[in-house]
Order: sequence, then C-alpha cells, then structure tokens
Amino acid sequence: MNNTEKINRYQAFLPELEAILKGETDMIVKMSVFAALLHEEMNFFWTGFYRVVSGELLLGPFQGTIACTHIGRGKGVCGTAWQRAETIVVKDVELFNGHIACSSLSKSEIVVPIKNKLGEIIAVLDIDSTEIGTFDDTDKYYLEQAVTFL
Ligand code: SME
Repeated sequence: MNNTEKINRYQAFLPELEAILKGETDMIVKMSVFAALLHEEMNFFWTGFYRVVSGELLLGPFQGTIACTHIGRGKGVCGTAWQRAETIVVKDVELFNGHIACSSLSKSEIVVPIKNKLGEIIAVLDIDSTEIGTFDDTDKYYLEQAVTFL
C-alpha cells in the first residue's frame, strides 16, 4: 500500500470510528469496535489491545490469530511502549531487543499507548504486519488521533 492510499484509508476510518463510538461508554465495546473496524479497513495481520490490569498488560479485544495473554511492564514492544509512555514503531521485529514473538509471521509492528483523562496509561494498541517496514510516521499520526476516541 502506498502512502496516499494509507492516508485515504485512515481518513475513511477516523470519522467512521468516531461516529460508531459516539455515546458508547464501555471500554471493551469501544476497543472491540475499534479493532474490528481498523483491521478490516487496513487489512493488518493482527490488530488489538492490551489493557493495564493489576500492574501488567492483559490481552484485550483483538482481531487476528491467538496472541500472548500477559505482558510485563518493560517487556516486549508493548511493555516498553507502556513504560516509555510513547508510541514505538518497529520496522523489523528481529532488530528490537526483547520483542515477544506471538506469531513467527509477524515482521513489523507499532504500539500506541492509550491514556485516560488523568494522563495515566490504561492500555496499548498493538498492530502487527507480516511485512518488514509496514509502519511509519503516518501510522503513528493517525493512530495516536484514533485512540483519543476511546
Ligand atoms: N510483539 C508484541 C507482543 C504482542 S503480539 O505481537 C500480539 C511485543 O513484543 O510486545
């Protein structure tokens, strides 16, 4: 997918997400809708959430193959994004020290932390691709906007 097509797809996804989530208060419902909509729109390999529960990340609503269920703070890309409180784009998972391979098919990924109104991280959005170098600043830009609708 070239960058123009990627932008077009995100620009279609964002208002649709906002419209469907309007008035919705339950976080599991919101994450489920988000994951399903984004996964279909972008044709990703794995799209889902890990929620911060009792000091670790627990698997939340997702689309794709079965994944790791518990991830510690500072572990893998997800736990590192949580600890650093910033989005991490991994162009090649082989080059990320400590990457957790839930599927050997996963080659690149992006993890976006999700904050509550107090600025505390309550979850992360994790997206995986079967190709190297799928994610870049365009994904970061749109996904950071998208998670504010949760
Ligand atoms: N690769 C992630 C683990 C989650 S799965 O990819 C769905 C990580 O290193 O945190």
